[in-house]
Amino acid sequence: MSNIGFNAGLALQAALVTEKAAIAASHLAGRGDEKAADQAAVDAMRTMLNAMDIRGRIVIGEGERDEAPMLYIGEEVGKGKGPEIDIALDPLEGTTLTAKNMANALAVMAFAPRGGLLYAPDTYMDKIAIGPGYAPGLVDLDKSPADNVKALAKAKGVKPSDITVCVMDRARHAEIIAELRSIDASISLITDGDVQGVIATTEPETQIDIYIGQGGAPEGVLAAAALRCVGGQMQGRLHFRNDDEVARARRVGIDKLDTKYDLDGLAAGPTIFSATGVTQGSLLDGVKVRGDRVHTHTLIMNSVDGSIQRLRSDRPV
Ligand code: FBP
Repeated sequence: MSNIGFNAGLALQAALVTEKAAIAASHLAGRGDEKAADQAAVDAMRTMLNAMDIRGRIVIGEGERDEAPMLYIGEEVGKGKGPEIDIALDPLEGTTLTAKNMANALAVMAFAPRGGLLYAPDTYMDKIAIGPGYAPGLVDLDKSPADNVKALAKAKGVKPSDITVCVMDRARHAEIIAELRSIDASISLITDGDVQGVIATTEPETQIDIYIGQGGAPEGVLAAAALRCVGGQMQGRLHFRNDDEVARARRVGIDKLDTKYDLDGLAAGPTIFSATGVTQGSLLDGVKVRGDRVHTHTLIMNSVDGSIQRLRSDRPV
């Protein structure tokens, strides 16, 4: 897969896109209006993308064309010249977190050459992820949560009770949580934002060792794009609740519905990932206005040169 154009300059442009989306959403933090916050981020991200010298195509976006007027799956963005890029984005990952001014809302985007990202439908995905440095295949979606935690504990030379598992606080995870409690693993429950939950496994200071559970499939691809850059292991399998969701998968070209995707299947080849904090978080600081200047904190990663940068920007409001 060609990585032409996937350079430091493109990574910095990606950062500018998520910064602007985060700033726009932050004006609506704590206002109780998920839709308005999301729309502000969408508008800002789309404006920025359309100013770029790329031939971009949204592959993970705000939804299908008939339900999302902007940044829908298949929308072409950019000036129509420059590298051909597939784009996965979530202008506001954590709409509820933002509306309630809770931690860890992000503006997120990933670039890959054409065909580099799984065209995931807007369904759920079962996910498991760990950070870098472990033997391939150490954890597996087909093993029980307890067995995965035990395998990870063994590899780290610690007890299962020393492992912290990030799980979304959802009724559908009751069995997973009960099983993890039975081995006395520590569970870090999050109310939203599993892109951040997966990336947290790669950041030792978050104290999260493993992510297990079911969240959005688009968010699964975005998280995989990050792990493609920073290292780590991830598996995902689509989960369908009804025929409409199966039809969504077929529309994006997925015929084998029970595929267990590994990192290569979710995000193959060259990838640029950028996330900017909207609200204060464990991975990134949130947007802060100080006088007439606005401060942002962004994580930019590029799998081509292996760079991982944390960018703090100040600009006039
Ligand atoms: P928002 O729609 O509030 O941005 O929530 C995003 C999210 O929490 C993702 O991080 C996660 O993958 C998904 O929603 C989980 O979906 P559900 O809320 O239906 O369990």
